[in-house]
Amino acid sequence: MSTPKLVGIAGSFNRPSKTYALVRTVVGLAADRYGFASSIYDLQDVGASLGAAQWRSELDDQAEAVIDEIVSADALVIGSPTFKGSYPGLFKHLIDLIDPHELRAKPIVITATGGGDRHALMVEHQLRPLFGFFMAHTLPTAVYASDRDFTDYKVSSEPLASRIHEVVGELAAFFPHPVPVLAAAE
Ligand SMILES: Cc1cc2nc3c(=O)[nH]c(=O)nc-3n(C[C@H](O)[C@H](O)[C@H](O)COP(=O)(O)O)c2cc1C
Repeated sequence: MSTPKLVGIAGSFNRPSKTYALVRTVVGLAADRYGFASSIYDLQDVGASLGAAQWRSELDDQAEAVIDEIVSADALVIGSPTFKGSYPGLFKHLIDLIDPHELRAKPIVITATGGGDRHALMVEHQLRPLFGFFMAHTLPTAVYASDRDFTDYKVSSEPLASRIHEVVGELAAFFPHPVPVLAAAE
């Protein structure tokens, strides 16, 4: 059986980025626990052709390669910064270029960051319905983090770490043979 592939997408241009840090933490834990091959991309990895492309065929090879990674993944970790109470327009444009059937039944961990707590439900009110459109399996626990959950662009709060562990545990419904703890630590 081939190694399952986990792909993380951080819908931010910023480097460093809290969203990227959150996605990296979730992807890292999940890869350790389930033995995924993993990769993570942000909007800089997608590149400048995204904004000008009306159709997927107008993307350059760099952007097309990231979309190929997304649609061929066995599971996704999606992270979005919160812009005006929702996801950024360019992140949505990336998702708009994916065909409806391409994410069907894919397990997706949904995560977001924001400056404060006011828009914490954006994961439920914006991200979950977006991937509901694709008939993907968004995992029950959605993860939202605000500025105070990070120190130097690393996850530093206990409640956030605990929520991340919770959602990583939920992947077991789709990948039922976690790497034994001892083997994972070697
Ligand atoms: C244009 C813009 C709009 C924003 N709107 C919101 C918002 O509505 N609610 C919120 O909590 N944070 C908002 N923020 C703050 C960002 O969501 C927050 O700083 C985020 O963690 C940045 O992620 P990054 O470090 O991955 O780029 C906004 C930031 C920008 C630049």
